[in-house]
Amino acid sequence: MTDLLIKGADLIGKGRKDILVRDGRVAEVGSVSAKDAASFNGTVVDADGLVLLPGLVDLHTHLREPGREDAETVYSGTRAAAKGGYTAVCAMANSYPVADTAGVVEQVAALGKAAGYADVQPIGAVSVGLEGKQLAEIGAMAHSAAAVRMFSDDGHCVSDPIMMRRALEYVKTFGGLIAQHAEEPRLTEGAQMNEGAVSAELGLPGWPAVAEEAIIARDVLLAEYTGARVHFCHVSTARSVDIIREAKARGAKVTAEVCPHHLLLTDEAARTYDPVYKVNPPLRRESDVAVLRGALAEGVIDAVATDHAPHAPQDKDCEWAAARPGMLGLETALSITVLALGGPSAVDWDVVAERTSRTPARIAGLEAHGRDPQPGTEANFTLVDPAATWTVVPADLASLSRNTPYAGMELPVTVQATFLRGRATVLNGKIAEETTE
Ligand code: DOR
Ligand code: ZN
Repeated sequence: MTDLLIKGADLIGKGRKDILVRDGRVAEVGSVSAKDAASFNGTVVDADGLVLLPGLVDLHTHLREPGREDAETVYSGTRAAAKGGYTAVCAMANSYPVADTAGVVEQVAALGKAAGYADVQPIGAVSVGLEGKQLAEIGAMAHSAAAVRMFSDDGHCVSDPIMMRRALEYVKTFGGLIAQHAEEPRLTEGAQMNEGAVSAELGLPGWPAVAEEAIIARDVLLAEYTGARVHFCHVSTARSVDIIREAKARGAKVTAEVCPHHLLLTDEAARTYDPVYKVNPPLRRESDVAVLRGALAEGVIDAVATDHAPHAPQDKDCEWAAARPGMLGLETALSITVLALGGPSAVDWDVVAERTSRTPARIAGLEAHGRDPQPGTEANFTLVDPAATWTVVPADLASLSRNTPYAGMELPVTVQATFLRGRATVLNGKIAEETTE
């Protein structure tokens, strides 16, 4: 394995340092002399002016394989992840077949290893076929080679309270957690966008905020009752934040994520009738966006998660009502997060690292990720240029799909390099084509 020397990176809270990596692990953090650097026999990266973050960790990625390889594959999705600065992604279970058996989760993990662009941690389904009727083989997935800890029916809510209770009791036995897509289905039948003034004007049926908030409130109570861990996916309303804040104050074992699009876009975008803005949960009001930003800065919302949801053209380039919900996220998440946290000149990089890497790694139990460089830690980092800007060109994305809501937008912060166990998956802003370890 090649050795790596990163010269003069800005380490959060520590100033400019050199980092020496041997065999995929940090060997030294400090200052390597010019003489030692000149004789160094490995990859040397000049990180002058670049901030080093622990590699980003996504708690919520739809990789679409198996079954919808026309929209994304583990290979293309993890290349998109690497370009976005990620070193690990948690793959959602709503594939075809559903990841509800040890066989499917092991297959997804193996595809991730073979691709080599990011660690892929499969999420297992809570119920067989995501149908909410029968518990999936949670124990078999937990004890499989994929060592699944997080379970979710994402795309669907675990709406039956007895199913949620049993799932919580089950995962508690091995320290697992349930990631809940909070949406009371009886309140969202036929929904197309956020329920509010804009939906009334456009005549589109709405997803009311209370459909999310009611499930979050219920699951906080179930988490407290069972003593198990619940993680709330894509929190999108101000009232959800209030409920989570109160739950945490009481000591409930709950965590929450927010998606970049809910930190930037609002339901006003639906006026365009462009289905690229259709997503579940829907884009909400300006006032929700403001509260979500505050909650992320404060830590009531623990993590940013992309809900990267690639869709093939036939599922997205159609009329609004027929389009599938979801938007791409991996390649733009860091830029949008920085924007939402005050922009590149005001942002606290320590908070960025906490919400995009350290905390999500802890929630998912990915011990080798989310670590700042110290001798002995795995060299999973990303180097970002805080002063650079870039324009989102859909054709340039590594994802197989094109459904980004940011096309043509100029965004702050570029990912210059991503390292997975010391090996560059991205270098000079470009994907490294050789990834074998
Ligand atoms: O917008 C969404 N898309 N929300 C989900 O919960 C699922 C996802 C998908 O799989 O496309
Ligand atoms: Zn979801």
